[in-house]
Amino acid sequence: MISKIINGKKIAKKIQKKLKKKILKRKMNKLIIPKLAVLLIGDNESSKIYIKNKKIACKKIGIISKTYTFPQKILEIDIIKKIKKLNTNKSIHGILVQLPLPKKINTLKVLREISYKKDVDGFHPLNIGLLCQRNPNLRACTPLGIMTLLKKYKIKIQGINALIIGASNIVGRPMMLELLLAGCTTTIAHRFTKNLYQYIKNADLIVIAIGKANFLKGKWIKEGAIIIDVGINRLKNGKIVGDADFNSIYKKASYITPVPGGVGPMTVTSLLKNTIYICEKYHDR
Ligand code: GUN
Repeated sequence: MISKIINGKKIAKKIQKKLKKKILKRKMNKLIIPKLAVLLIGDNESSKIYIKNKKIACKKIGIISKTYTFPQKILEIDIIKKIKKLNTNKSIHGILVQLPLPKKINTLKVLREISYKKDVDGFHPLNIGLLCQRNPNLRACTPLGIMTLLKKYKIKIQGINALIIGASNIVGRPMMLELLLAGCTTTIAHRFTKNLYQYIKNADLIVIAIGKANFLKGKWIKEGAIIIDVGINRLKNGKIVGDADFNSIYKKASYITPVPGGVGPMTVTSLLKNTIYICEKYHDR
């Protein structure tokens, strides 16, 4: 079997075009224009690139974004102070704290301070809890982007065996909840999982997010499995590859997301969607 390549870049472009129209319509109807506050803390180079891309996407569709940068040594209390200010600032609709944060800062404590109504990342315990209870509100961007891709490609997933490899708060765990909500029989594997290959062999759908270049091999997977690759790894030669070994998987899977151009553009699209959703849900009358 030769895989169908899921073109995230193309789908993202289409959705972003629709979102741009939505914002134009808001302008014409004199509704508020969504405004996103982005907090960049420390000097993580990848974070700087991700934020740059998010800001470009905002600008392209008409969302206003403002970045607040803080030094690596900033105290937790000062970040929280800033978040509290942004929470009460009526002109700000969404707040994003780019992760990872410097080691000394308690990430969960910081994320909990963001008002759940401004939580564009869907990481607030209330929003995660609502998803867990089958009543989603603001949803984490990468898992939401993946669900959108599966829908756009009309891939039926109800009742299938889904395996998530990687149990992070950003991707793995909310992904598990999304797939469970969609009716998959869901397994989550992580660094302590014994006999990972047994789970891989049995999976109809695999979402992999572990940050290990070309880890998942075609010979391990079920014929016709759907492979969703969240990894972004830079090789020594500068090439960007995913967590799945595209060349070996391509011959065996039914669908595969490429890296780059698969899941990545959808994460940004979900952020834009969430920012507009907040305006519609909490600010429009
Ligand atoms: N770092 C890596 N992915 C993400 C994400 O989706 N949101 C935030 N805030 N930080 C990230």
